[in-house]
Amino acid sequence: MLDREKVNIQPEIVVGQGGNGQKPEQTSPAPQPPEASYLDMSVNLAGVTLKNPVVVASGTFGFGREYSQFFDLSELGGICCKGLTLYPREGNPAPRIAETSLGILNSVGLQNPGVDVFIQQELPFLRRYDVKVIANISGNTPEEYGVMCEKLSRAGVDLIEVNISCPNVKAGGLAYGTRPELAAEVTKIAKAHSTVPVMVKLSPNVTDITEIAKAVADAGADALSLINTLRGMRIDVNTRRPILHMNTGGLSGPAVLPVAVRMVWETASAVRLPILGMGGVSRAEDAAQLMLAGASAVAVGTALFADPYAPLKVRDGLAELAAKQGLSAVRELTGGVQPW
Ligand code: FUM
Repeated sequence: MLDREKVNIQPEIVVGQGGNGQKPEQTSPAPQPPEASYLDMSVNLAGVTLKNPVVVASGTFGFGREYSQFFDLSELGGICCKGLTLYPREGNPAPRIAETSLGILNSVGLQNPGVDVFIQQELPFLRRYDVKVIANISGNTPEEYGVMCEKLSRAGVDLIEVNISCPNVKAGGLAYGTRPELAAEVTKIAKAHSTVPVMVKLSPNVTDITEIAKAVADAGADALSLINTLRGMRIDVNTRRPILHMNTGGLSGPAVLPVAVRMVWETASAVRLPILGMGGVSRAEDAAQLMLAGASAVAVGTALFADPYAPLKVRDGLAELAAKQGLSAVRELTGGVQPW
């Protein structure tokens, strides 16, 4: 397990078998790692220091309770909570999840207990851990975003992720995330009502993501997160019905990683905001690609459903990768791509 802030990458020490109650014999001299082998895993996201760059993506981690049975949530850089709305929502009718060969389609429809219940019942639980809490919010109107930002800022979340990219709801969601003027309006209202940094979550379901990114940056966003899911569909060839009750849903998982890397790269080249990169990360190398493309931190999402330890494996793998490349801080990966 890695230390919270620093990782000491040491070559393996070869030792004898012992077995006689005595201290095992050392068969090779113990390497003395130089000070430089300490790797700084911390990153900065819009003024918020994450102890490592690995965050869990909204909608894949609930509010952390279930996953806390697997590992200490303080091991993470940040937790992005399930998307909140001003009032509780039951979400869309089932079926609302369908597997694909390289990911899943979902049409959950923002099921959540509402922002007040989150503040009263879920936030105190998360506050038991030494981890940054990111609240993800969706509104039916720009004004609803403002109300939620005020409540969540007062409640003391570390960052607010303004979701203008949910593909599974009729009001709000994609309607805001695909039109620069509406994306800007929501961002301005969120900023005006927040005392914590505001990060806007962008949709990949657009022709040019940089148009939306620029509009949101000009409106005052502190950071961007991308990508949300890609709209998709599956059909049962025998019943001829779509598998999802809502007919379409959002695709996530390994299939979307190259799209995410491309969009993070384009966005990082177009605006000067820190980026939380996500989309199909299941291995350290995936996370490193997003960082090289320009992300300051990365979120692990769908991979959690197959392996609850995926974010910790990504974190440890990133540390190894960065150390092997001779870096002294993992943040040195950010923006390091060398385009042809
Ligand atoms: O349907 C959902 O709850 C998904 C939300 C999102 O993709 O932002």
